[in-house]
Parts: sequence; C-alpha cells; structure tokens
Amino acid sequence: MIKEAPVLTIDGPSGSGKGTISTTVAGKLGWHYLDSGAIYRVLGYLAKTRNIAFDDVGGLVNLSQNLDLTFTAQGISLDGKPVGDEIRTEDAGKRASLVSPIPEVRKTLLQWQRARARPPGLVADGRDMGTVVFPNAICKIFLTASAQARADRRFKQLRDKGFDVNIAQLFKEISERDERDANRKVSPLKPAHDAVVLDTTELDIAEVISRVMGEINSRL
Ligand code: DC
Repeated sequence: MIKEAPVLTIDGPSGSGKGTISTTVAGKLGWHYLDSGAIYRVLGYLAKTRNIAFDDVGGLVNLSQNLDLTFTAQGISLDGKPVGDEIRTEDAGKRASLVSPIPEVRKTLLQWQRARARPPGLVADGRDMGTVVFPNAICKIFLTASAQARADRRFKQLRDKGFDVNIAQLFKEISERDERDANRKVSPLKPAHDAVVLDTTELDIAEVISRVMGEINSRL
C-alpha cells in the first residue's frame, strides 16, 4: 500500500501566481507537483485538434478516459510525447475552461489526480484542489490578486513565451474565464473553508513564497 503523503493545495484564479509559486515551493520541499490546469488544457487542445465540440459530452468524456498524460520534471507528455507551449495560450485556457465544467469529465480525472499524492508529498495547483480533490490536505492556500494585476502578469508571461498579446483583450478574456470558473455548478473556483487566503496584488513573488513556506512548515 502506498503511504499517504502530505498535500499542499494552491488554488486561485488565472494569473494569481499559482504556477510560479507552486513549482518553487514544490522544489524547496522536494515534493511532487500537480498542475491540474494542464490536464484541462490538454483536453481542450485535443478536443480542438480532433474536432470534438464543447457540447459533445460523450466525446469529451471518452477523451478524458483515454488520456495518457505523464508529468515529469521535464514537463508534460501526452502519449509519450512532450506537450509544448501550444497549451499555454489564452485560447487554450479558454478551451480548458469550457471543457472543465462537465461533471463526468471531472469525475474521470478525480482518481488520477488523487493518485499523484505520493511520498514525500504533493503540491497541487488548480481551482478545486482544496475543496474537492484533496479535502484533507494539510495546508490549503487560496491566492487572489486584482483583475488588473493578474492581467498584467499574464501579459508578461505570455509575451516572454513569444506570444503576440493585447493587454485589453487579455483583461477581457481573463475576466470572462474567471466568471465562468467561479459560477459553474461543479467544483467552482472558491476558497476552501479552511484555506488561507492570500491577496498577492501588492506582494512580490519572494514574499508570497515566504508566506506559503511559513504556512506549510508550521503544519509539518
Ligand atoms: O490554471 P489554468 O489557467 O492552467 O487552468 C485552465 C482552466 O482549466 C481554468 O480556467 C479552469 C480549468 N481548471 C479547472 O476547472 N480545475 C482545475 N483544478 C484547474 C483548471
């Protein structure tokens, strides 16, 4: 039997800094890292390439059931091949947000995500890590920031990856995506009742990391 591993969940809206904070904290702790958003991004990307419509629930469930996804230190692989930045565009984020409200899809992915909790521990980032996937996590963080600060961060992130982005358009897309993620019936974006909510609008990355490390270390 696999020994139960401690889990740190980091949830929040897009651009709240979840990815950067989670990977850094996972590295410092020497723990595994689960980027749950990447699963929905890959699904949305596959739906596009295979011409599966967002209202084709059967097709999307089938896709999620046959997803051969691997997370390694080098990145994400699909069917044994590395997945690149094609899942990192804002369009891919929107597609992810459109496939993710389907209850059967989320149910299919639940056990797979839970099985990532292996010793010595797991840092899991997403929207419902603390509320649904890992309700018994030893430490839950919910990161927020103003919509403008999040759009600015995403703008820099996408521009640094070489994408052509328009800040006003990005602000609109991020706001629409958050609205959809927060208002869906299944696993909406919201802090768990026992989460520590951190507003990062005025904080730099080092300060957020230090706060999160303080929270997890106080529980270990
Ligand atoms: O974290 P991200 O921006 O990569 O996530 C992309 C989308 O995937 C997000 O807008 C909603 C969906 N998602 C989700 O429904 N549940 C998660 N745990 C993570 C992401």
